[in-house]
Amino acid sequence: MRLSTRALGLRIGAVPIVDDVSLDVRSGEFVVIIGPNGAGKTTLFNLLSGVTRATSGTIALGDVDVTSAPPYRRARLGLGRTFQTSTIFPALTTLENARVAAQASLGGSGTMWRLADRERAPRERALAVLESVGLAHRAHDVSGSLSHGEKRKLDLAILLCGEPSAILLDEPTAGMAAEDIPAMVASIAAIHRDQKKTILMVEHRMDLVLGLADRVAVMHHGALLAIDTPERIVANETVQSAYLGDPL
Ligand SMILES: Nc1ncnc2c1ncn2[C@@H]1O[C@H](COP(=O)(O)OP(=O)(O)OP(=O)(O)O)[C@@H](O)[C@H]1O
Ligand SMILES: [Mg+2]
Repeated sequence: MRLSTRALGLRIGAVPIVDDVSLDVRSGEFVVIIGPNGAGKTTLFNLLSGVTRATSGTIALGDVDVTSAPPYRRARLGLGRTFQTSTIFPALTTLENARVAAQASLGGSGTMWRLADRERAPRERALAVLESVGLAHRAHDVSGSLSHGEKRKLDLAILLCGEPSAILLDEPTAGMAAEDIPAMVASIAAIHRDQKKTILMVEHRMDLVLGLADRVAVMHHGALLAIDTPERIVANETVQSAYLGDPL
């Protein structure tokens, strides 16, 4: 699913938080957003998912203008996102958490199925998704006992159980132990490669981004400073000067 914005803006008082952002993420494309703290990356995600209403500009998912659509409508059109605060139920097992998410998204067509299928389909989807994020071996453990890195993986699994066609990932490796990061990055790369999902991801570490993204977008003071291949972004002088003192 294509994801596009035109002259998107959010002003709080006189302050532009997101400033005139026109962004086109093609269907199946992987775009990473980088930018210093406070650049407006998370706010842009809030505008895209409908948590925050834009004060100017437009947003489209595929051919549908969703500028004033509530979050649940955008989700139904296929837009998924992870949240900073986790949506995991700690007392349920890893599999149960994923199954609840799968059931919620499969639920609408439940009356069409035989009873046995109604039970099986969400469970099978949940198991397949846990496998794809490398959590299958923890399926039957209570999710409260998962490590921080595993919880981030479960957040991703819960998101994928809803079968979104475009996903927004806000620093999915934040707070993860260094040794957990490569596996998480590999899962995300596989989701992009095998499931052809459109991915828009905020990630600070340029070394992680280089081998992953089709394009890198740079945000600075709410504006989209540049969007190009990772190699050209690294070589871009405007980007480098915006980052002077900030690690890329
Ligand atoms: N509801 C709000 N009211 C006032 N200011 C806000 C609000 N939401 C965000 N801001 C401000 O907007 C700016 C952008 O914040 P945002 O969280 O989008 O940045 P970010 O690029 O995600 O930063 P980080 O890398 O630290 O996550 C910041 O200066 C923040 O303080
Ligand atoms: Mg942020």
